[in-house]
Amino acid sequence: MSLTNFLAGGNLPTGNPTTKVTVPALSEMKRQLKPISALTAYDYATARLVDEAGIDLILVGDSLAMVVMGHENTLSITVDEMLHHTRAVRRAVRRALVVADMPFGSYHGTIAEGVANAVRFVKEAGAEAVKIEGARVELVAALTAAEIPVVAHLGLTPQSVHRMGGYRVQAKTAEAAMRLKADALALAEAGAGAVVLEGVPREAAAAITAELTVPTIGIGAGPECDGQILVFHDLVNLSFSPQAKFVRRYADAASLFRGAIERYREDVEHRAFPNDAESYHLPKPELAQAKTA
Ligand code: KIV
Repeated sequence: MSLTNFLAGGNLPTGNPTTKVTVPALSEMKRQLKPISALTAYDYATARLVDEAGIDLILVGDSLAMVVMGHENTLSITVDEMLHHTRAVRRAVRRALVVADMPFGSYHGTIAEGVANAVRFVKEAGAEAVKIEGARVELVAALTAAEIPVVAHLGLTPQSVHRMGGYRVQAKTAEAAMRLKADALALAEAGAGAVVLEGVPREAAAAITAELTVPTIGIGAGPECDGQILVFHDLVNLSFSPQAKFVRRYADAASLFRGAIERYREDVEHRAFPNDAESYHLPKPELAQAKTA
């Protein structure tokens, strides 16, 4: 183990599939200029693929409300639903840091309620950090004091869709960019282990990334962020929504799955599935008996 890795608690991801990624290791990756890869996952099978591919951080995002459950926005997903999906992901993951999104309403009341809900994600579902949207500095401090690592989320925060009047790029003026930077610094000062920057100008994200000691993880925030995150379903074309400017599609799972499903249907309709090799048979003596009976 290198000295830097030792100082990072031996937990600096090395590409070794068994080196567990931790929240402190993310900051060490930033110091070493090692880009952080992050993706969402919401179920066991996908989380296994994402983890085995060496992605550093897996977010059980509340985007599942839209891409898995077909809701119009993320607002209706509940704590119990998020816990259910977080448990499935946690069972699959060996190496990546598992971060659970706190859903809308679960941290918008008192600080004590926010902490109590976050405790559920750690205790009942095995999350290793929680993500919360907005400049909730007091809550981040309280969660940190409660030993719960926090990933903050600033910029285009989907839970604020009604306040923002839609999903719009944020911090487009110099003044708003300064406010965004002040919020990011305050959240890091309060203990946030990383800051997701979504839908903000590249220049604003770059300036924040340069000032923070904790990593920024961008989505629609340009290449200077310390890491990048995408919604898994956008990456593989399974989200049934128009492609956003910042999304790069790495596969066309919709076409792949459609093709497989259509071939299966045709085989069933033509009695080409299952064939003899895909069928169970009586053992030979039983077969002979059956024939003579
Ligand atoms: O819910 C989610 O998927 C997210 C990412 C887009 C950052 O919050």
